[in-house]
Amino acid sequence: MLVLGIESSCDETGVALVEAAGPGVPRLLAHGLHSQIQMHQAYGGVVPELASRDHIRRVLPLTEQVLAETGRSLAEVDVVAYTRGPGLAGALLVGAGVACALGAATARPVLGVHHLEGHLLSPFLSADPPQFPFVALLVSGGHTQLMRVDGVGRYELLGETIDDAAGEAFDKSAKLLGLGYPGGPALSRLAQQGDAAAFKLPRPLLHSGDLDFSFAGLKTAVLTQAKKLGGELEARKADLAASTEAAIAEVLVKKSLAALKATGLKRMVVAGGVGANRLLREQLNAACARLGVRVHYPELHLCTDNGAMIAMAAAMRLQDGQAVATRTYAFDVKPR
Ligand code: KG4
Ligand code: ZN
Repeated sequence: MLVLGIESSCDETGVALVEAAGPGVPRLLAHGLHSQIQMHQAYGGVVPELASRDHIRRVLPLTEQVLAETGRSLAEVDVVAYTRGPGLAGALLVGAGVACALGAATARPVLGVHHLEGHLLSPFLSADPPQFPFVALLVSGGHTQLMRVDGVGRYELLGETIDDAAGEAFDKSAKLLGLGYPGGPALSRLAQQGDAAAFKLPRPLLHSGDLDFSFAGLKTAVLTQAKKLGGELEARKADLAASTEAAIAEVLVKKSLAALKATGLKRMVVAGGVGANRLLREQLNAACARLGVRVHYPELHLCTDNGAMIAMAAAMRLQDGQAVATRTYAFDVKPR
């Protein structure tokens, strides 16, 4: 079974081809990605209208590129999968529309995929995929969740953010420090030159006894600190960035450990853009090593949005009988 996957929920156009043969983990044949980051940088964030228009420009050339790379033709594709949501409505409509048009033109069924399920299953694209069950920490620009994962489609939400997502905390703090968009990687880079103990920033809900998160207060604390520093901010920016990153990482690690304890599981998966964060990986790896817990991550370049994770999630669902691709080409999207 050949699955073509299309991702267009935000500011990356991704297309990929995944092959499922037999009961094993499906295999990534090729993927193509076009990032719009440069285009949005001038505006300090994603401009939805520009995003949609750029997806339109990129999605078919990327599809042709992926097919050419694998030597496969569109006629050989068995299922066309696309991100159905969540994401920007206009951007999602481009991927959904193109997927359904390709499906209709080749009389192949289509399948809408949940973007977060794509992230969740993205570690299965690595050479050393995890085994079920595991605890998953999903940390993206829009979501922060801890889940118990017993199999494809068998997800139990253990806790989530009650306000901002971890990625949002990175992005908003970075913006306050004048680091531009996307803020997470920029803040993390600057943090490497700073002292993480320089500023005492809050760790909200750290001792709440549940597995929920709250990051809205952190951004306010960063703003207060930045104002207090005034003219000194420029000289202390790296210290403030390091303190911010340390606060976010500590909360994510402690709550992950609490989730492992609560479930008794000995395996952990981290997925989503913030899963690329260096400090989070270092601290989580160290803590989990002490507990004899294996941690799996997607490959670094597949942490942020891509088509491979969408094709993979569709292939795994189909293989498991957890979804049925249909020839209903009257597509819809679910932005929220
Ligand atoms: O998963 P993703 O690509 O898109 C969403 O589905 O939201 O995640 C994007 C988020 C952004 O907030 C970005 O700043 C953050 O992931 N991010 C990072 C790093 N790389 C990406 N945050 C911290 N450190 C990084 N290295
Ligand atoms: Zn994402």
